Amino acid sequence: VRCIDWADGAVRLIDQTALPDQERWLDVTDPDELVDAIRRLAVRGAPALGAAGALGVALAAHRATHLTAAGYEQTVRAAAARLRDARPTAVNLARGVDRALARLGEGSAAVLAEARAVLDEEAAACRAIGERGADLLQQGRPLRILTHCNTGWLAAVEWGTALGIVTVLDERGWVERVYVDETRPLLQGARLTAWELAARGVDHRVVVDGAAPSVIARGIVDAVVVGADRIAANGDVANKIGTYPLALAAARAGIPFVVAAPESTVDLTTATGGGIEIEERDPAEVTAGPAYNPAFDVTPADLVTAVVTERRTVRPSRGETL
Ligand code: MRU
Repeated sequence: VRCIDWADGAVRLIDQTALPDQERWLDVTDPDELVDAIRRLAVRGAPALGAAGALGVALAAHRATHLTAAGYEQTVRAAAARLRDARPTAVNLARGVDRALARLGEGSAAVLAEARAVLDEEAAACRAIGERGADLLQQGRPLRILTHCNTGWLAAVEWGTALGIVTVLDERGWVERVYVDETRPLLQGARLTAWELAARGVDHRVVVDGAAPSVIARGIVDAVVVGADRIAANGDVANKIGTYPLALAAARAGIPFVVAAPESTVDLTTATGGGIEIEERDPAEVTAGPAYNPAFDVTPADLVTAVVTERRTVRPSRGETL
């Protein structure tokens, strides 16, 4: 099952705001409804956002075929711009939009074919990341892994990046326990990752974000494995807020801090993490009063033991660049 796909002239997606209480699927028929779904995190996670961007352009093209050539182009490009701007940090969103848009001149069927290729490529990449990451971490004994946010099939179309590694390790019998950061403010760990791990029967414990560094310091975690929303050329990693303290704690404890992401999340046009726009979200997600609510943080390259993609393993902490 894919968390987002094309179905009968609509974009079908599982509404991640309703999980784990309800498994509710939405058929989105208007690109602006999809913009709204992206903003409120009904669909989220970098690879799934790439899929949403590409499918959104396909949806706009599908709906505009009755227009004149000029009207078609103008309508689809305007919808594409709104989709691209829906969230700023995960580079996959803009990439997915731009890939589908590049086929606009060939007609709506070509745009949809490109969007479908984005989904297929993300799904295939995750399988490869899972195998490569498991090979990297496997030590001949079951591991205790700490992860943050949600990086499973809900976030990555079909399989998962960091959670894909956990899944492959589990298939091989090498997972003892997964510590799942709650992931404030919207609880993608406690709601989504715990739900995915429970479905697989993987032993797991939710920990509140504030507890995670000291859980690592207690010596009961063998590796931290997280995803990414954008990886700069120098190996700096933007990921869900609360990732950076995990990297600090992992470095202090001498355990690996591994980032799992497809090549589509690597942004060589951004030299360092300082160039990555960090999304700020509504204070109402945190409190009724004033709040500063950054959705992501940047972990500096020197704290990143390895970046695992479908093609390569890069070691930023040894000075390797992407
Ligand atoms: O705000 P979200 O839920 O979209 O943030 C998602 C993350 O930070 C994930 O860790 C990242 O996108 C990798 S998803 C495989």
